[in-house]
Amino acid sequence: MFRISFLKLTRQRRKTSKLKVSNQNRVMMNGSVKRAHFSKEIRRMISCSEIYKSFGQLPVLKGIDFQAEAAEVVGIVGASGAGKSTFLQILGTLMAPDSGRVVIDGTDVSSLKGDDLSDFRNRKIGFVFQFHHLLPEFTALENVMMPALIARANGRRGEQKRGVELIRADAMQLLDELGLSARIDHKPSEMSGGEQQRVAIARALINRPAVLFADEPSGNLDSRTKEEIHNLFFELRNKYGQTIIIVTHDKELAERCDRVVEMKDGLFV
Ligand SMILES: Nc1ncnc2c1ncn2[C@@H]1O[C@H](COP(=O)(O)OP(=O)(O)OP(=O)(O)O)[C@@H](O)[C@H]1O
Ligand SMILES: [Mg+2]
Repeated sequence: MFRISFLKLTRQRRKTSKLKVSNQNRVMMNGSVKRAHFSKEIRRMISCSEIYKSFGQLPVLKGIDFQAEAAEVVGIVGASGAGKSTFLQILGTLMAPDSGRVVIDGTDVSSLKGDDLSDFRNRKIGFVFQFHHLLPEFTALENVMMPALIARANGRRGEQKRGVELIRADAMQLLDELGLSARIDHKPSEMSGGEQQRVAIARALINRPAVLFADEPSGNLDSRTKEEIHNLFFELRNKYGQTIIIVTHDKELAERCDRVVEMKDGLFV
């Protein structure tokens, strides 16, 4: 009896003594201390090392190392041309580095090719760009459903697939959470810039990706809409625990991130 309860107790202790970020203070890049507000075990979500990339004779990334944990929001800042978008595209598996290794949620993405790579990207990664890239001929609802329909079509045999009705219900719920329930049947051209960007965010979230990459997501929005979109990222992280990497020139957004890294001439400084 005693032995069992002792074992139980040590097991429980071990569980609770795993690193937790809640109520811990983090030292920020700028020296300030910020209280982490998301309670979650620390788990490495992104890890990359020695990333090099040149375009022709132009070396752009010069041996980058970078890590991010689950549920962490990291801001990437730096001058125009520093290589931020190139780096984000490599992390997001949209572009291959010349050399170096990218590991997302335990998978070395260089080991994936063709359909396996697209499938991994579709399931694990969400993208939000400055210009939303919505499909103009489809409604808001259809745009949001699209990545889930693709995942369904690509589903492996024997794998449990999400039914179309469930996908529709999920997409409607996401749009509702983003304040767009009255716009589901509108096409992108019938929506404001902020609404289109929110649809793009819902689309990026439909497959519940572990990682969300955003490249200047509020770059072309007015200050009120911009703030709404910024709030949304933090609400999403708090709710779904996603790792969010945001490239931004917006000082206010960068300051809200858990951590900010600055890229200069192809390296983090
Ligand atoms: N496909 C490409 N072919 C050739 N050169 C490229 C290509 N993509 C980017 N570059 C060059 O690589 C450098 C880094 O570009 P990148 O888009 O990563 O910069 P950035 O830090 O995102 O800049 P910005 O803040 O202006 O968006 C730039 O000099 C750019 O001209
Ligand atoms: Mg860029």
